[in-house]
Amino acid sequence: MPDRPHLVRAVKGTRDLLPPGTLLWQRVEDDARQAFEAYDFKEIRTPILEPTALFARSVGVDTDIVSKEMYTFEDRDRESLTLRPEATASVVRSCLEHGLLADGGIHKLYYIGPMFRRERPQKGRYRQFYQIGAEVLGSDHPLIDVEVIEMLESFLRGVAKTGVGEFNLLINSVGCGRCRQEYVKLLRRELEPVKATMCGDCQRRAETNPLRVFDCKVEADQPVIARLPTILDYLCPECRQHFEAVTGELSRRGIAHQITPRLVRGLDYYTRTTFEITSGALGAQNALLGGGRYDGLAELLGGPPAPGFGFAIGEDRLVETIREASRSIAGTPDWEEDSLHIFVAWMDHPAGIASNDLARELRAKRLKVALTYEPMKLKKSLGLANRYHARFAVIIGEQELASGCYQVKDMKTGAQQEVKREEVAAYLQERLGA
Ligand code: HAM
Repeated sequence: MPDRPHLVRAVKGTRDLLPPGTLLWQRVEDDARQAFEAYDFKEIRTPILEPTALFARSVGVDTDIVSKEMYTFEDRDRESLTLRPEATASVVRSCLEHGLLADGGIHKLYYIGPMFRRERPQKGRYRQFYQIGAEVLGSDHPLIDVEVIEMLESFLRGVAKTGVGEFNLLINSVGCGRCRQEYVKLLRRELEPVKATMCGDCQRRAETNPLRVFDCKVEADQPVIARLPTILDYLCPECRQHFEAVTGELSRRGIAHQITPRLVRGLDYYTRTTFEITSGALGAQNALLGGGRYDGLAELLGGPPAPGFGFAIGEDRLVETIREASRSIAGTPDWEEDSLHIFVAWMDHPAGIASNDLARELRAKRLKVALTYEPMKLKKSLGLANRYHARFAVIIGEQELASGCYQVKDMKTGAQQEVKREEVAAYLQERLGA
């Protein structure tokens, strides 16, 4: 006998999302759409495949994302392409390409989709992961930062009815091109005498892009990093004023936040506000989402000046925190009840046609219906109805066909009712509240 070919498995760091688990993903996405649309955001879909230069120019060549984590390959015509590691750069590219920003107005866009980073896989960290993100382009007004954070906080509290439980909002300002230049000079001076004691990455970063030293995860480097000056103390008056306007208004709206001077975020395009929301339920990979302002990004990508602000939620992590939060709440969350409305049980061939016709009528009314393709003994059928968590079973046998009345069984109470064939759909719709 020839050997059976070995099973092909999913690529390391990627995963299949299977039903009924996908119900919560759908719910989260529906809720996000609703929450964002209430703030006048509209959906944008950009390609997963982008020219590599897009990320090199925006996220930055010295970042971990671009220097170590991108899935980059040469296409057959030699063009270097990359599976997007994030979507902010793509959104700005798209807006510039289609001239959306030329009208001088404010554009509010959101997206949902997969991103790719070749990181070491662990709980909460995948090589294909999903983000739900939003971007506002066209203004640097501090009220935009506040409004977007307010939208996020209300979404997180109510998502999938359960919410995500406790979370912390960390916020900082990384200044603008002007004040950051001065600060980076200072940082370089401060790093000069100590960099030899730091990891190889930090030694390189100290030369090329000192701000990226704050991304270092090496334990031994942390005491050195903790002694470095922070940008918050070196903001220019305009950036300080912007930051105070944001934090002041967050306080006025009762949105708790923690000023975190070392929060620089691992992407180069940020200016002024940067923020993250962390959740204790997540363990080591505790960042539920991250975002900030990127007032120079459009210009970096060859466009006219167009300030921007946005965030991206890690959807994998969001789903995990909701599951965690739901454990402390009594009852089954509605996204876990993968229930069928109706199971149509039929016993012999003549009833097969009537059963399929009824199923079609009920399904056209958007009721969830299942039935077997072959006749089945009543007891076995009702066993299946139970296994599928059907709320009702409709029983059709020879007798029911003759009388024109079907048996409708409530699978919760066991009560059975005879209903006229023409009235079955209305009867079930009423009881299911559909
Ligand atoms: P980011 O901090 O790189 O920011 O990613 C945002 C979120 O995506 C993280 O907080 C995390 O929840 C999730 N995430 C990142 N990498 C992984 C991974 N390997 N596995 C699972 N989840 C992950 C951005 O991507 C920016 N584009 C956000 C932004 C939008 N800034 C302004 N606008």
